[in-house]
Amino acid sequence: MSARIVVLPGDGIGPEVINSALDVLNVVADDLEFEKHLVGGASMRAFGRSLTDEAFAACSESDAILFGSVGDPSFPLDGADKPEEGLRRLRFELDLYANLRPVKPRLSLADASPFRWEHLDGTDMLIVRELTGGLYFGGKHESSEHRAIDESVYTTAQVDRVARVAFRVARRKVTSVDKANILETGRLWRTGVTKVGEDFPDVELVHMLVDNAAMQLIANPRSFDVLLTENLFGDILSDEASMLTGSLGMLPSASLGDPGVPGLFEPSHGSAPDIAGRGVANPMAAILTAAMMLRMGLNRPDEAEAIESAVDKALTSGTRTRDLGGIAGTQEMTQAVLAAL
Ligand code: NAD
Ligand code: IPM
Ligand code: MN
Repeated sequence: MSARIVVLPGDGIGPEVINSALDVLNVVADDLEFEKHLVGGASMRAFGRSLTDEAFAACSESDAILFGSVGDPSFPLDGADKPEEGLRRLRFELDLYANLRPVKPRLSLADASPFRWEHLDGTDMLIVRELTGGLYFGGKHESSEHRAIDESVYTTAQVDRVARVAFRVARRKVTSVDKANILETGRLWRTGVTKVGEDFPDVELVHMLVDNAAMQLIANPRSFDVLLTENLFGDILSDEASMLTGSLGMLPSASLGDPGVPGLFEPSHGSAPDIAGRGVANPMAAILTAAMMLRMGLNRPDEAEAIESAVDKALTSGTRTRDLGGIAGTQEMTQAVLAAL
C-alpha cells in the first residue's frame, strides 16, 4: 500500500543523513511517495519562517513525517523565530506527546563504546519522553534583560496519556523519572504515573529522582526497561543514554500522538554544525529512524526489520563513521547498509 511521506531534511547534517535514509527506503519500499519541504534555518532563509503554513499543512495531511535536524548557529538565540522553533511547533500543533528513543547497544559496536561489553550486555531500554509540556511550552512572559523566567506546566491529562504509552510498551518495568522532592510538577507527575500504573498490575513501577537516574543509566544500564520522563529530563537523559550505544549518531526516535495523527520520525541528534557539510556524519540514527517510521508509522514491520538487520550487518563488516572510531564517510557507511540489504 503506497504511503505519503513528508520529508523535512532541515539544517546542518540533517539533509546529509536524510539522503542516506531515503536511499535505504527507496530500496526496501518502492511505493512510498516523498514530498520535501524546508524547515528550520533553511526555511527561515527561503521564507523568513522556520515552518511555513504550507509545510505544516503537508505534514498534517501526510501518513508520516521524516525529519532530519534543525539548528543553525548563524541565527541569534533570542530571535522571535529561530530554527528550533519549527520543530517545537510541529510537535506542539500535531500534539505529538510521546517521544520514543530506543537504546540497545550492539555487540558489533562493543569496541566503539567507552563501556566494556560485559557492562552493556543485555541493555535494552526504551526512553519514553513527554514532548508537549514542561519548560519547553510554559510562559516566558516576564523575562527581561536582567531576569528570566521559564514556566514548567504539566496537567494530569498530559501525564496520564504519556504514562499509558509507557506502560503499554513496557515488557517488565517502568522507571518513572521526576524531581518530586523539589518540584510541584514532579509531584503531579509521580501521582499521575502511579495512578496509571494501577491499570497495569503486571508491570513493575519504580519512581526514581532524575539525578539518581542520570547516575543509574551509567552504573546499571541493564536495570532499565522503559524509562518514562518529562520533556527536559528526557532530552538530557537520552543524549546521555545514547553513549551506551557508542554514539549519539546511533539514536533514532519516533514522536507519536493519538491514533490518526501522522508520527514525526526524527533522529535524536541535532544539526551538528561542527561537522556539517563535510560528509562525515553518521547516517545510522536517520536510517534507523526510517525503520521506526516503517514499523510504527506505517505498520510495515518486515521492511523495518530488513533495514535494522542491514544496519547490523554493515556495522559487523567493520565499516564505521568517525564518531564510532572508524574512518568511513556518510556515503561509505550508507553504501555498506545498501550492500547488506
Ligand atoms: P548535536 O546533536 O547537533 O551534536 C552534538 C555532538 O554530537 C557534536 O559534536 C556532533 O558533531 C555530534 N553528532 C551529532 N550527531 C552526529 C552524527 N549523526 N554523526 C556524528 N556525530 C554526530 O547537538 P548540539 O551541537 O548541542 O546542537 C547543534 C544544533 O542542533 C543546535 O542548534 C541545537 O538546537 C540543534 N539540535 C537539534 C535537534 C533536532 O533537530 N532534533 C536535536 C538536538 C540539537
Ligand atoms: C531533541 C532536540 C530538541 C529538543 C531541540 C532542537 C528543540 O534537542 O529533539 O532532542 O530539545 O527537544
Ligand atoms: Mn536533544
